This record gives sequence, C-alpha cells and structure tokens, in this order.
Amino acid sequence: MKLLVPVTAGLEQITKRQLFALGYEKAPADNGRLALDGTWQDIARLNVFLRSGERVLLCLATFPAKTFDELYDGFYNIPWENYLTADSKILMDGKSVQSTLGAIKASGGVAKKAIIRRLADKLPIGKKTFSETGARTIVGFSVFKDEVTVTIDTSGAGLHKRGYRSLAYSAPLKETLASGLIDSTFYNPDRDEEKPFADPFCGSGTLPIEAAMKALHIAPGLHRDFDFTAWKCVPKGVLELAKEEAKDKEIRNRSLQIFASDINEKAVSIAKYHAQRAGVEKYIRFSVQDARKFHSEQKYGVLISNPPYGERLSDEQEVRKLMSEFGKTFRSLPDWNAYILTSLRDFERYFGKRADKKKKFSNANLECGFYSYFGTPPKNQL
Ligand SMILES: C[S@@+](CC[C@H](N)C(=O)[O-])C[C@H]1O[C@@H](n2cnc3c(N)ncnc32)[C@H](O)[C@@H]1O
Repeated sequence: MKLLVPVTAGLEQITKRQLFALGYEKAPADNGRLALDGTWQDIARLNVFLRSGERVLLCLATFPAKTFDELYDGFYNIPWENYLTADSKILMDGKSVQSTLGAIKASGGVAKKAIIRRLADKLPIGKKTFSETGARTIVGFSVFKDEVTVTIDTSGAGLHKRGYRSLAYSAPLKETLASGLIDSTFYNPDRDEEKPFADPFCGSGTLPIEAAMKALHIAPGLHRDFDFTAWKCVPKGVLELAKEEAKDKEIRNRSLQIFASDINEKAVSIAKYHAQRAGVEKYIRFSVQDARKFHSEQKYGVLISNPPYGERLSDEQEVRKLMSEFGKTFRSLPDWNAYILTSLRDFERYFGKRADKKKKFSNANLECGFYSYFGTPPKNQL
C-alpha cells in the first residue's frame, strides 16, 4: 500500500531520518508529504513510533479531475467496499491548490455521494440506509494542479496528540515540531546520556518532555489510540504488536540531566503534571527561575527554548529587552549550544550574536526563525 506522511515544512529531512531509523529506507518528499510503501503492520508502527510526522495517510488513488463529473467518477472507481462498512462515519477533508476544482465544500459533497453510491452498489445492505454511526474514517482529497490524491487518515487525531498534554499554558509548541527541533540539534543522549539539556522558558514543558521521551526511547504513540484500529479491514493485533515492540525498546535506566524552568510558577506546575502523565517526571529537574539567571556548573550542554513571542507591539519591546539580557546570560556559557525558536524580528541583533545557522519554521501560523549557536565542542568530539 502507498502511505503518505505529511510533515511541517522544514522537518522533511528530520522525519526521513526517523523513518530510516525505523527501517524505511526510501521515503521521497512529495508536496509536503513523505511517500513510502507499507502494510497494515507498518501503519501501526509508524503511528506509534514517528516523532515528527503529522499523521499517517493511506493513499487510495490519484487521478486527474477538472469537473465535478470527473471527480465523481474518480471517487466511484475506488474500491471503498474494501475499506468502509455500511455504518462507517465518513468525514470529508479537502483542499485545492492551483486547480480548476476550487469549491471544496461542494467537491466534498460530490465525492461523498460517489463513495455512498459505490458502497450501495457493492455492499449487501439491502434496503438499509447508511447510518454513519460506526467507526470514523476521515477521507482526504487534495487537488493540486488538477490532480486529485485520495487518502484515508489512519491516525485520526494528529500525531502531535501524544496524550500527555492536557492543560494549556501560554503558546505551547506542537509536540511534533518540538521533537523535530530536538532531533535537528546536537542533543544526542544515545551518545552522551549525561549531557545536560535545558529549556529555561519551558512553559507547559513540551521541549523537556519530548527530550526525555527521545532519550528514554519512549514511543510517542504508546498511550493513545488511532482511527484505523476500529476499521473492519485491518488485521487484528497490529497495534498491539507495534506497542509491544515499543515497550521492548524503552530504556529506563538512564541518568539524564534535563532541566526545565520558567519564571511562572503555574507554568512549572503544569509542565510537571504533563511530565508525570508522560511518565518522565523523575528524569526532569523543574524549577521556577528567571531565564536571565540561568547558569550551569556543567561545561557543555544543549539549550533549546522558545521564549515569549511578543506578538503585540507593546510586548515586543519587552521581549527585545528580555532577549538582550538573556543573550548576555548565555554568553557566560561559551561551550554550550543554544537553539532558539522565535518570531521576534531581528532576533540576533537583540540577542547580541549572529547565529551559526538559521532555519525557518511555521509555529501556530507564526513565521519563526530557529537560531543555532554552536559552542566549542568537547575535545573528544573534535
Ligand atoms: C512561548 S512560551 C513557551 C512554550 C513552551 N515551549 C511550551 O511548549 O509550552 C514562553 C514561556 O516563557 C516564560 N517566560 C517569560 N519570561 C520569562 C523569563 N524572564 N524567564 C523565564 N521564563 C520566562 C513564559 O512564562 C512562558 O511560559
């Protein structure tokens, strides 16, 4: 089967590396998605293990369509009876870019009609109507340059929903982005488990929790469910097998040095609570602290953070000042690597140092820069 994994722009290579580590060697990027072949067992594994992919889609067809009739026929020709049942709850999710078929709601209606017609023709339902009271299936169709790609979403809720984050505080990072950012840095607990990791603006705790999960090899999808498990077409036991594999891969006896702090007491208690839910609380040292006072006895370390954004003009002034003071603090740790995700324009000017590397990401519809500062590497790593 052909599988598609949508990824946040900028995380394609990182997600490819994660796929490679899981044994999927070929996954070319295709219009914001990585494409690979796989079975239902692979679908279960990808949902359980992938850290930065947004969801796992099963691609059912691609066909050209410029009119509603062509769209209807293309949809009717898909063997829906192999995937859906007479009571499937079908949700349509479409988008169109640079294409003649622009009216997405109307296109979704046409496509759904074709699916129902096909099911009525192929399933022995007699006079019964489609109740849509059964398992949910999100049918995706994206029209790009008049070519329609039809998918069903095996994940259901996006893969960023690991299940540990239940309380909101400030502007939390999406878990998939947080883990992708961590994977793009020099934080490598498999090589040096005691290398400190710090997030001095931790908010609800996403970065330190994702760092701990990575270090302990805790699969992000271990404690949640996925839409495909309720589908009748899926062989029994595939998710259980993937979760067994995940449990076998966990490494709990690590002496990690993960530090999470925030100036706000409520943020720290929320972060602690989330860490507890993720099963990593005992691996993270939490404290209420102003990031401008951040210090460490350790010579080397990795700091990954996303400070306040300062979206409103009045806040921006304050964030600039904060970044300038935090920049001075950081320079007292010349051997640490720092990675800052921020939407603050001219960040480097306020931080007081040119970044060694910059990358752009979109976070909650805000264009952000991810600024990397490399300290002197330890002698054994030169
Ligand atoms: C954008 S949020 C971080 C969100 C976090 N990454 C998450 O996923 O939840 C910025 C955080 O910086 C904190 N903050 C603001 N000023 C601070 C300071 N001087 N020192 C430490 N934390 C500060 C805020 O309380 C807020 O929690």
